[in-house]
Amino acid sequence: MCGIVAYVGPRQAHEVIIKGLKRLEYRGYDSAGIALLNGGLNIYKKKGKVTDLEENLYDYNLNSNIGIGHTRWATHGEPNDENAHPHYSHSKNLAIIHNGIIENYSSLKQELINKGHTFQSETDSEVFIHFIEDIQMNNNCSLDEAVRLALTKVVGAYAIVIMSKENPDLLIAARKGSPLVIGIGKDEFFLASDATPIIEYTNEVVYLNDYEIAIIDNNELKLKNTQDVPSTPYIQTLDMELEAIEKGGYEHFMLKEIFEQPKSISDCMRGRLNANEGRLVLGGIREYANKLITADRIIIVACGTSWHAGLVAEYFIEEFCRIPVEVEYASEFRYRNPVIKEGDVVFAISQSGETADTLAAIELAKSKGAIIFGVCNVVGSSIARASHEGAYTHAGPEIGVASTKAFTAQLTVLNMIALRVAHQKGTITERRYHELLVELENIPSKVEKALKLDNQIQAISEIFKDARNFLYLGRGFNFPVALEGALKLKEISYIHAEGYPAAEMKHGPIALIDEEMPVVVIATRDSSYDKVVSNIQEVRARKGRVIAVVTEGDALIPQMAEFVIEVPKTDEALMPMVSVIPLQLLSYHIAVMRGCNVDQPRNLAKSVTVE
Ligand code: AGP
Ligand code: GLU
Repeated sequence: MCGIVAYVGPRQAHEVIIKGLKRLEYRGYDSAGIALLNGGLNIYKKKGKVTDLEENLYDYNLNSNIGIGHTRWATHGEPNDENAHPHYSHSKNLAIIHNGIIENYSSLKQELINKGHTFQSETDSEVFIHFIEDIQMNNNCSLDEAVRLALTKVVGAYAIVIMSKENPDLLIAARKGSPLVIGIGKDEFFLASDATPIIEYTNEVVYLNDYEIAIIDNNELKLKNTQDVPSTPYIQTLDMELEAIEKGGYEHFMLKEIFEQPKSISDCMRGRLNANEGRLVLGGIREYANKLITADRIIIVACGTSWHAGLVAEYFIEEFCRIPVEVEYASEFRYRNPVIKEGDVVFAISQSGETADTLAAIELAKSKGAIIFGVCNVVGSSIARASHEGAYTHAGPEIGVASTKAFTAQLTVLNMIALRVAHQKGTITERRYHELLVELENIPSKVEKALKLDNQIQAISEIFKDARNFLYLGRGFNFPVALEGALKLKEISYIHAEGYPAAEMKHGPIALIDEEMPVVVIATRDSSYDKVVSNIQEVRARKGRVIAVVTEGDALIPQMAEFVIEVPKTDEALMPMVSVIPLQLLSYHIAVMRGCNVDQPRNLAKSVTVE
């Protein structure tokens, strides 16, 4: 959601920025803009894609060694040219790019209007830069001091970068609640919402913390906080390859990421799991490991697909660790008054590690004394840093808005954590523990096999691509998979889809079934198999069109389902990592056939950094 890129150094700023904005496109946006010091502080901005902006730039001399660029995901004011960022200050001497929301913008705006300010856009961000300039004039202070004073007055979330007409070597950045990374090159600095625009130039980065202000002036980076306390930048080395954020011959990032799953699951287990030796080590969970073993309750907070991973984990943890688990939408959890007691442990699951609701939920839980374990994909992300301990999913960058490889990696990590806890608690037998370790190690090869179903699924997609509705049913461990299948289809193909526990169908959704309704039933061989078979019969009796995902070799279901997709056999507790594969492919192919923008579906953002 929203992308920030800024540059100062010997290169042509517009080249770095435009390329960087394209790398951030996956986050979701509706307009783009850039500000340069090319004979004046000039802003160019446009509704639409970065390429629309780029085409508009051909007519100008863009020679500048400093600049700021932005892809906007509108919160205040519709997506149009005026509301796009950057925004000028009142005198037009300053320009800002902003990610987030300034909650008290309307009172600030009124004060500024009373002082004679006029505004070109409806955004909160424009108010922000006018406010900063107003403070600078009133206090006759430096720009960084004005930024600092302004930050003590604004309420809300932000990542900002500001440049000034007066100083061609100065960029000022700050963050609270929205991500910002600073790349340090030789005599040059890059700022971005995540590391993807930076890694082709440098792997030395500084992650800005909440309430920190970065002042890059004359080739020097200084940090201080909003209380005016300076700090030393902590430089980290990024472990990310450029190929990981490129399509590598695939038509879409989503397809690449679906096919990467055998590798991403293995990467996630590498160095942690060795079934032969019965070894399961999670380096990130040490000091608080005991809290997990003795936890009275585990609360899982997450959103979207990560929430579905949490639901699978609930089944897994309760089954093997015998600890009660509650899975909460982070957005709901944070706004009620949740009961959190000593002995409660909170898991926060997030691919991006930047989801605003999840971040706020863990801050709330922390303030009530809970211990937080983060399960994040993006190393150094805000949620990872706000957690006491945790385990990374190591799935590599996920660029497609529809989450795929992050989901299976989340399940891998959560299963490993649960197995370790169960083993230490003694709530699982040695035999079962080893069985599951071995089976977990086998999952990548089973996923590999499931991916071979691609052609068959493409053929099925062709038949159902024009459907208006879809129903997904599953039970037990496969119930969250039904939810996930439905979410994948909705978000990228815009077909209405619902996921339901199969037995709940008769309490309502069964009324939807007619001869046009495709019903995807996850009916793999497990403890609820017979019940799911009955549910398939109920759908058939009402002429619904059943697409069943079954365990290979199933002889019964092919007699009753119209289409049967056979996935490799695995333990029922691990089946979601395999049974989700055909559902990911089904949604992908249907979306492509409908001409949808698979990697950047309308209205959606990859990291939802505003609430
Ligand atoms: C998944 O396909 C979605 N795009 C979305 O639901 C996503 O899972 C959700 O926004 C949570 O994101 P996170 O894992 O980065 O926190
Ligand atoms: N609130 C700002 C706007 O609506 C910033 C949105 C964003 O994060 O892209 O312009």
